[in-house]
Amino acid sequence: MMKTGGWTMALWLCAGAAMAGAPSTLYTAQQATAGQALYTQDCAMCHGAKLEGEAGPALTGPDFSSAGSDNTIGGIFSIISQQMPANTPGSLTHAQDEDAMAYILQQNGYPASTTPLDYTTSLASTTPLVAPGK
Ligand code: HEC
Repeated sequence: MMKTGGWTMALWLCAGAAMAGAPSTLYTAQQATAGQALYTQDCAMCHGAKLEGEAGPALTGPDFSSAGSDNTIGGIFSIISQQMPANTPGSLTHAQDEDAMAYILQQNGYPASTTPLDYTTSLASTTPLVAPGK
């Protein structure tokens, strides 16, 4: 169905946005900014300054979440809220979990909006999380 690499990429990105339902309502810019500070302090030593992966896996790009990896917002958010930081699991507040998730979404090309990312909604979300290709 998808013939060329360019088309595949374009359709894939559109599909990601479409499947996300309303990707523009996932998180606010304030959450992503707070998440960046948190990430630098509590996550970068394992996941890399640019989320490229070190001791822990990459948190951006196809290595993190390609269309075939079946990751969802809820699945990734539950890992963050229950297992991360791996050296002190569960040490973050719910607000910090939300901020970290917002930052990861931002770094994977999801746009900010005026609706904050919410802990309970995100945990239950079955929306696919598809990172853009490189
Ligand atoms: C001590 C090292 C360490 C720290 C600190 C850490 N992580 Fe992780 N993280 C890991 C490892 C290792 C894994 C892989 C766990 C596994 O596969 O069971 C992981 C997995 C993840 C995943 C799932 C990735 C995937 O592809 O499924 C996410 C999301 C994540 N971490 C986010 C975070 C966030 C956000 C922080 C900071 C709040 C953080 N991590 C801090 C080591 C760390």
